[in-house]
Amino acid sequence: MGFLYPLVILSILLIFFPFDSSSRRTLFFHGGSTTTTTTTSTDAYCNSWMYSVETNNIGDWPTIPIICQSFVAGYMNGTRYLSDSKVVASYSLAFAKDAFTGGGKDAWIFDVDETLISNLHYYAENGYGSEIFNETKWNEWVLLSAATALPASLELYNNLKSLGFKIMILTGRGEEQREITQKNLNRAGYSGWEKFILRGDGDGGKTNVKYKSEKRAMLESEGYTIHGCSGDQWSDLSDSPTAKRSFKLPNPMYYIA
Ligand SMILES: *[C@@H]1O[C@H](CO)[C@@H](O)[C@H](O)[C@H]1NC(C)=O
Ligand SMILES: *[C@@H]1O[C@H](CO)[C@@H](O)[C@H](O)[C@H]1NC(C)=O
Ligand SMILES: [Mg+2]
Repeated sequence: MGFLYPLVILSILLIFFPFDSSSRRTLFFHGGSTTTTTTTSTDAYCNSWMYSVETNNIGDWPTIPIICQSFVAGYMNGTRYLSDSKVVASYSLAFAKDAFTGGGKDAWIFDVDETLISNLHYYAENGYGSEIFNETKWNEWVLLSAATALPASLELYNNLKSLGFKIMILTGRGEEQREITQKNLNRAGYSGWEKFILRGDGDGGKTNVKYKSEKRAMLESEGYTIHGCSGDQWSDLSDSPTAKRSFKLPNPMYYIA
C-alpha cells in the first residue's frame, strides 16, 4: 500500500495550498505613502521598492513609503550603502583607466549631494526622506557645510585626478551657495577640480535633467570628452548629450526630476 502515500500527501498539500490561491497572486498595492503589502514582509517589499528606485522603474516619487523608513535608515546607516558605493566606484575607475586618452580634454563629471558628499546627518534628523522637502531647513544645513565625504567617491575622485582627468563638478545647488559648498567640499577632502558649475540666473526654473544636460553640451562645445558622469539621480545622468558611461550611485531617500 506504500504507493498511496504520495497521493495522501498531495491531497493534504492541495487542502492547505490550493492552486487557485488568490493570496499568492496578490502582490503590492502602491499608493504614495499608504503602501501596503500582503504576501511578503516589509523588508522584502522595501528591497523591491529600492530596486525600482535605483532602476528608475518607479519614475517620479514624492517621499519614501512610510513603512520603509526604518529600512532606508538601516540601509543608509549600515555597511550596505558604503559597499554599494564602493562597487560603483570600482567599476567607474576600471572604465576610466581604459577610456583615458591623455589629450588634455578627458573630463569626468561629479554631482555633489549624495555623490561626493553625504547629507545623511541632515536626512537622519528629517525622517530619511519620509518628510516633504523643506527648503528653509535644507539651506540652514547647507550653511553648516558639515556634509561628510562619501568615502568611495573621495577615493575615486583622487584616482581620476591622478590619472589626469579634468574633474567637473556639476551641482543643482545655486550660485549663491558656491562659497559655502566649496568650503564643504574642501573640508570633506576635495580639491583640484577644473570647473565648479552651479545653477546661475538663467537656470532658475529648469529641471535638473534639463539644466545638467545643457551643461554637458556646453562642456562638449568647449572640446571636452565626457567619459564618465557620476550621480545619485537619473536626472544627473540622462538626456543628450550623455557621458560615454553613466554611473548611478544609490539614493533611496529622495528623487529629483
Ligand atoms: C544614522 O547616521 C546619522 C549620521 O551619521 C546619525 O546622525 C544617526 O543618528 C544615525 N541613526 C541611527 C538610527 O543609527
Ligand atoms: C520648514 O522649516 C522651517 C525651519 O525649521 C520651519 O519654520 C517651517 O515651518 C517649515 N516649513 C514647513 C512647511 O514645514
Ligand atoms: Mg545628488
